[in-house]
Amino acid sequence: MNSNILIIGGTGKTGRRVVEQLQNKGIKPRIGSRNASPSFDWNNKDTWPNALNGVERMYVTYYPDLAVPGAKEAIHSLTYLAKELGVKKMVLLSGKGETEAEACEKIVMDSGLNYTIVRASWFNQNWSESFFLDPILSGEVALPLSDVLIPFVDANDIAEVAATVLLDDSYNGEIIEVTGPELITFKDIVNIISKTSKRKLNFYDITLEQYIDGMRQMQIPDDVVWLIEYLFSHVLTNPNNQLVVHDIERVLGRKAKPFLEYAQETARTDIWNPVNVT
Ligand SMILES: NC(=O)c1ccc[n+]([C@@H]2O[C@H](COP(=O)([O-])OP(=O)(O)OC[C@H]3O[C@@H](n4cnc5c(N)ncnc54)[C@H](OP(=O)(O)O)[C@@H]3O)[C@@H](O)[C@H]2O)c1
Repeated sequence: MNSNILIIGGTGKTGRRVVEQLQNKGIKPRIGSRNASPSFDWNNKDTWPNALNGVERMYVTYYPDLAVPGAKEAIHSLTYLAKELGVKKMVLLSGKGETEAEACEKIVMDSGLNYTIVRASWFNQNWSESFFLDPILSGEVALPLSDVLIPFVDANDIAEVAATVLLDDSYNGEIIEVTGPELITFKDIVNIISKTSKRKLNFYDITLEQYIDGMRQMQIPDDVVWLIEYLFSHVLTNPNNQLVVHDIERVLGRKAKPFLEYAQETARTDIWNPVNVT
């Protein structure tokens, strides 16, 4: 049993897929999350030493996002605790074009630990496992910035890259930028999901202000509204994010998964079928 590898967020969008990747190689990683045993809670530092005890390598996903207030301090404390406890390598999941995430990357890079940064663009799985799922299920998708080009990346590709660099020290000291193979707009995506799921989806191009007002009317908590507004106004519009990078191909020796392929696979799971909503 190789429980000296810790996956923080090991039941999340990328973490659970990293766990699967490692299990396929015969490795049994330890999961770091509130429901794991031992438990790891970002909001309770007392849980950290137990969760990190005996760990040699760790994949770190911060929840909910490296951009939120407090993330930098948490990453700083965790990184230096890891160093003190003898962790040999950290792989940090970061976000492309996020100033706050880059500050977190720098903490890890300056710590003296071996590291690899996996810097991702927006995930395909936001449409099936996160905040874009509900509008898809309702059939009414209203989004701002509908023509912005985004290199959506698949969480399976991110996980395969993360598992590879976690085990392979030849990637130490590198920033691996993971993007999908094409630039795509929200409008294109809703079309693709409509076709693959065989559902009529209405798309409305709205302003960011209308989008924020809509979230407030739905009584979405203020910190979530703040994060989504930040992601739309800073991350999505950052020209550095509107580029395809070929690091997935460099690390995995194969092309990144196109959005259409993700959509075909996801449609087959029936998750976009509103009949299955509980
Ligand atoms: N979504 C995107 O498009 C995107 C793009 C670029 C970068 N990112 C980055 O991706 C990171 C998130 O990664 P992800 O999407 O793979 O994870 P995720 O699905 O957002 O995270 C869920 C995981 O976090 C755990 N978790 C939730 N609250 C926690 C807490 N207080 N303490 C400890 N664990 C907690 C959950 O387990 P429990 O419930 O058991 O605790 C679960 O394992 C963020 O830092 C974000 O900046 C996201």
